[in-house]
Amino acid sequence: MLGSRVVHQLYFLILTLILPFSAAYQVGVNYGTVANNLPPPHQVVNFIKTKTIINHVKIFDTNHDILAAFSGITGISLTVTVPNSDIISLSKLSNARSWLSDNLLPFLLTTSIRYIAVGNEVVATSDKTLITHLLPAMETLTLALHLANVSRILVSTPHSLGILSGSSEPPSSGKFRKGYDKAIFSPILDFHNRTKSPFMVNPYPYFGFGPETLNYALFNTNDVVYVDPVTKLNYTNMFDAQLDAVYSAMKRFGYGDVDIVVAETGWPSAGEPNQTGVGLDYAAAYNGNLIKHVNSGKGTPLMPNRVFETYVFSLFNENLKSSVSEQNFGLFKPDFTPVYDVGIMKTNKVYTLQLL
Ligand SMILES: *[C@@H]1O[C@H](CO)[C@@H](O)[C@H](O)[C@H]1NC(C)=O
Ligand SMILES: *[C@@H]1O[C@H](CO)[C@@H](O)[C@H](O)[C@H]1NC(C)=O
Ligand SMILES: *[C@@H]1O[C@H](CO)[C@@H](O)[C@H](O)[C@H]1NC(C)=O
Ligand SMILES: *[C@@H]1O[C@H](CO)[C@@H](O)[C@H](O)[C@H]1NC(C)=O
Repeated sequence: MLGSRVVHQLYFLILTLILPFSAAYQVGVNYGTVANNLPPPHQVVNFIKTKTIINHVKIFDTNHDILAAFSGITGISLTVTVPNSDIISLSKLSNARSWLSDNLLPFLLTTSIRYIAVGNEVVATSDKTLITHLLPAMETLTLALHLANVSRILVSTPHSLGILSGSSEPPSSGKFRKGYDKAIFSPILDFHNRTKSPFMVNPYPYFGFGPETLNYALFNTNDVVYVDPVTKLNYTNMFDAQLDAVYSAMKRFGYGDVDIVVAETGWPSAGEPNQTGVGLDYAAAYNGNLIKHVNSGKGTPLMPNRVFETYVFSLFNENLKSSVSEQNFGLFKPDFTPVYDVGIMKTNKVYTLQLL
């Protein structure tokens, strides 16, 4: 009896493993820098890499200090942006080739650049000259990459939802604005289909909610809030409805299979005193639910099981933006403290295993 108990105790091992928790989550953020109090890029990159599960980062330029800071960092891919002011010049091949040699080629060996975003919300500028040079600039940059033997970088351009016509409800009747549809979007989508690059959109339920639809905008309800009268499909959140309206517009031209990337979306954690639906709890709900939703693999009612690479706006609060709400889209303060918890910090999980 005694002997067997000793043997029993001998073989009763408790193994405690402390393993870094690596979620299967894909989390992208926009690393905007309209601020005068942000830490230097190498500290930011070190923070992202060691403390968070963020694995896609988008920047609004080709800041060389940021690109150098990402040098040698594996597991995080980068999207860089051509400023709107460079688009016209880049529609000439010689300029596109020198832009590439000056800004990206020096970093390519060690920095994992995935996409070049040509401008930001160019169609929303209503600047005809800029808009007509957008696709030519995307084409010449693609050719310049090809001539430099770079095949892994894809070219795209992010659009605001202002590209859709006002009558884009229900989601199944989404269409591009009149005048821009055949002339602008059909050839842009053809470019994406040819080059296998994604269509980038910036959906913001924050700009679309009303007093009745706050919980629908925040993914805070499982109730069917909206039924598309044409498809009879049920919508429980506004994000899905916005993406499906974009998809319907694309599908109208036969490009329903082109990938969609959510280049920006977010919710401010503070605003003007008279703003409703703005605050810590709302921002935490939107961004937390968003990350879970896009990682669930559920897709949307019109795009079941599709996964959308999604970039939250934004990494930091940016104190030089023009309004209180715009200054407060950040997940983090400049000193790296989380503004609220959305489950993207790396945590150590304790696994206890009993072996008899
Ligand atoms: C691209 O590759 C081709 C063939 O492999 C080579 O002849 C050419 O020099 C390369 N161009 C550059 C810019 O590296
Ligand atoms: C939509 O929801 C209603 C209940 O609210 C349900 O009866 C119906 O089957 C749902 N339709 C689809 C296509 O899931
Ligand atoms: C998209 O590209 C595929 C080839 O990859 C082609 O078969 C298809 O016709 C293209 N779609 C349109 C609408 O041009
Ligand atoms: C809210 O307050 C700002 C000033 O802080 C003012 O400009 C704006 O018109 C107000 N909005 C409403 C809806 O009252």
